Amino acid sequence: MDRAGGTPAPLRIRNADQHYKVNFSLPVFSARKAADIHSRYCALSMTYLQKLAADTANLYAKSFGRPARWIVAAPGRVNVIGEHTDYNEGFVLPTAIERYAVMAADKAPGGEKVIQIRDSSGAETAFIDLSAPVKPGAPKWSNYARGVISGMMERGLNPGGLDILLNSTVPLGGGLSSSASLEVCTATLLEAVTGRTLVPVEKALLCQKAEHEFAGVPCGIMDQFISVMGRQNNLLLLDCRSRETQLVPMNDPAVSLLIANTNVKHELANGEYGRRRAQCETACRILGAPSLRETTSEALANAKDKMDDIVFRRARHVIGEIERTVHAAEAVRNANWPAVGQLMYASHASLRDDYEVSCKELDVIVEIAEGIGIKGGVFGCRMTGGGFGGCAVALVKTELIEAISKQLAAEYKKKTGIDATIFTTRPAAGATVLKG
Ligand code: GLA
Repeated sequence: MDRAGGTPAPLRIRNADQHYKVNFSLPVFSARKAADIHSRYCALSMTYLQKLAADTANLYAKSFGRPARWIVAAPGRVNVIGEHTDYNEGFVLPTAIERYAVMAADKAPGGEKVIQIRDSSGAETAFIDLSAPVKPGAPKWSNYARGVISGMMERGLNPGGLDILLNSTVPLGGGLSSSASLEVCTATLLEAVTGRTLVPVEKALLCQKAEHEFAGVPCGIMDQFISVMGRQNNLLLLDCRSRETQLVPMNDPAVSLLIANTNVKHELANGEYGRRRAQCETACRILGAPSLRETTSEALANAKDKMDDIVFRRARHVIGEIERTVHAAEAVRNANWPAVGQLMYASHASLRDDYEVSCKELDVIVEIAEGIGIKGGVFGCRMTGGGFGGCAVALVKTELIEAISKQLAAEYKKKTGIDATIFTTRPAAGATVLKG
């Protein structure tokens, strides 16, 4: 049911030790205008990937002097809610976005046992020798592909020598999973070339392992799962304990996801991620719980004196965020957008104050969004991804996208001196073979 034009029922959501009460009355909504924008937008988004594939095919022909035999794509993602919960066996609610890593490829001439990857952005070309076990190496970015190639070869999927052109539109370091999209794109290409496919869960886990072992990033499972399993017009509710997934339809033309890239990436990101994981593990040891998924806010409150304040607040974020994510999935199913929006704001506050992974620029975006408010078309906004820079995601009224984007960009520039990059996306499909 589309409730964007009505007055939603009040909703009380209990989170750790706070209560959120949601009860808004909304201005009358122009359904026809939203539907117009939506259908124009869908026509555009259907061709976005096709156009990107065609561009990549042209770049390939120019670069290698012959046509590509395979073209594959894997999307980046935006996480609507459920941040830093995946490695705590909780829930996440991401969607694939219309930004992709695309690879065009052909067999290497002369039966060479080398995979060559040229990057359309001009980054250093990677040469990966298949005549010995594949190891991490230079250039650094190639480790995401190396890790996947190594994992696929261990499973007997040997593609032989390849000439590949990589063309990615997922912003680097923006918290939109540019690395997972590269991993999943590589795995999808090797599936296409070898004519063998992995079970989706196995494929996602193989890509996650590549990131752990070849890039040294102890990430959770969210990014690779959504890049493999995304479905158009759906969010994915992923239970990171059982690895079960549920599609959560989000096809109301009246609402859209707006992504605002702060265009900052703070250096501490990597070490801090591992530190957060360790703090969660400390909380579990003290609570005697196998994971923070297995505990409750009551148990945490009872153990408050046994842990230091930082560990307590980290655990409070995770426990509250798991609960918020489940509520948010339900609210999306009911098209209760104001409720989803409030949960997004609560998530941001918790990530900022308890988990301490936000930064000034992300907080500025969220404050501006809050200032615009529901009357101006913003239901909610929060940082998305690992944090310390990158992107914020906002749930907005489709018909007001232009006005919201302009205001966000202008106020952000005024407050930080930085140009934000703002774009909108419909929930997109996961990795796909476009040719071959
Ligand atoms: C990064 C990781 C994910 C997840 C998020 C935070 O994107 O790759 O696994 O932990 O941070 O939610």
